[in-house]
Amino acid sequence: MILPIYSYGHTVLRKKAEDISPDYPNLPGLIADMFETMYNASGVGLAAPQVGLGIRLFVVDAEPMDEEKLAGFKKVFINAQMLEESGHAWAYSEGCLSLPNLHEDVLRKPTIRIRYQDEHFATHEETFEGLAARVIQHEYDHIEGVLFTDHLSGLRKRLLKGKLNAIAKGDCDARYRMKFALR
Ligand code: NI
Repeated sequence: MILPIYSYGHTVLRKKAEDISPDYPNLPGLIADMFETMYNASGVGLAAPQVGLGIRLFVVDAEPMDEEKLAGFKKVFINAQMLEESGHAWAYSEGCLSLPNLHEDVLRKPTIRIRYQDEHFATHEETFEGLAARVIQHEYDHIEGVLFTDHLSGLRKRLLKGKLNAIAKGDCDARYRMKFALR
């Protein structure tokens, strides 16, 4: 089932999300719906707060970004904790399904070490680099209540204020189902 994606302006996108346990109601169904919602919107990652749930869950499938290097990079992250981010920060143009049609260069470190549980609640501690790390960092931010625009300079943020307010009101052209904060 395709879920509506919550726009910029919803408070759920600004809260630190909570851990979940394996008995979370209908978790396999929710994960399947999140993948379906993400693919429908041509996204490469989707976090639970973006479908209105303040829980530490996000899904990624970054294969479309690089069909060779990221082939099969489809994963579920539950109760993730970032352990380390390292290296020299690099810029990459990011977008977000909660902020349609907005793309800005964001600086992030290239290597991460993260602990998480998969959809079977097996615990993993892994290192990711480059674009894989980038997608995870963006989604991890969502479960910490952070949006990619928070990483921009004060000037850039001020310049984007009007656009962000328009998104919250639904005054934007999204090609997928959304739930706008101020509509
Ligand atoms: Ni996002």
